[in-house]
Amino acid sequence: MYSLLPPKYPTQRLRRNRRDDFSRRLVQENHLSPSDFIYPVFVQDEQKEPVAVASLPGVFRHSIESLLPVAEECVKLGIPVIALFPAVDSNLKTPDGIEACNPDGLIPRVVERLKKEFPALGIMCDVALDPYTSHGQDGIIDENGYVLNDETIEVLRKQALTQAQAGADYVAPSDMMDGRIGRVREILDDHDLIYTKIMAYSAKYASSFYGPFRDAVGSTSNLGKSNKFTYQIDPANRLEAFHEVAADIQEGADLVMVKPGLPYLDILREVKDMFAKPTFAYQVSGEYCMLKAAAANGWINHNAVMMESLLCFKRAGADGILTYSAIEAAKLLKVML
Ligand code: PBG
Repeated sequence: MYSLLPPKYPTQRLRRNRRDDFSRRLVQENHLSPSDFIYPVFVQDEQKEPVAVASLPGVFRHSIESLLPVAEECVKLGIPVIALFPAVDSNLKTPDGIEACNPDGLIPRVVERLKKEFPALGIMCDVALDPYTSHGQDGIIDENGYVLNDETIEVLRKQALTQAQAGADYVAPSDMMDGRIGRVREILDDHDLIYTKIMAYSAKYASSFYGPFRDAVGSTSNLGKSNKFTYQIDPANRLEAFHEVAADIQEGADLVMVKPGLPYLDILREVKDMFAKPTFAYQVSGEYCMLKAAAANGWINHNAVMMESLLCFKRAGADGILTYSAIEAAKLLKVML
């Protein structure tokens, strides 16, 4: 006969392992390390001094010179890769964004300099035209403002080749044109750049969390009231993201990305489980500034929430995280060790 009474003692006491710091550490399933981070940085030509980005507290647009100590800090902290984003002079912006392919342009010069000074630091370059177009879209537009797929890819290929020839270790197409990964791989291979890796922004959603980034690269006013709904994924969709990732992997992506981060952890987990590829999350500008703003109001403990958020990416399956908090987090990890 079974007793109908509840057991006198809980059959499992899960709190047993949670009781002490040592026992909690022993069973911790996921860990953060500086090796998990990719640090996005903004570069500019105009001013020598770093310029603060108003909507991204603690983030600056750097000149080549002022970027060097930042890169050095990444190396010292063990951050493996930095991702470069340009704030291009407005007089260099054109409808076709052709400055993106200039071998003497800002990004190739920054890449060459960084590779010379810090050969062990990985360099990632964004492949997309929005910092270079007068209309702020990621590609070439027709008379109705529609972004043309195949015409855009022709420019993106040249942009990626320029970055790779300057010494970029990773090219990262963030434009969401169909078929661009294969065409970028092709032009790199044609030029014997077989070791240049492709980080595909595969599941990139049409998100309003990108606002502060657009301020930082100076594309907000160019974009005006238009949006990127005809090429980035609808936030309502899940299955579509898997088609994007599958296509990018089939075309030769070495790493794939889900973007934004925290609101899209469901997609991240499924992409990791489904494809088993090196999978990254981008904690985007809007996510970063939300934490900063709440902390500035004294409403949350910034560092605790930051570290928790970053750890949650790991739990959800990320192999790494692009985050504006990389340096802050890596410093904290050093102290905690
Ligand atoms: C450009 C690009 C964007 C971001 C990275 N690359 C903005 C966009 O698609 O409008 C956003 C990053 C961030 O918000 O931190 N193609």
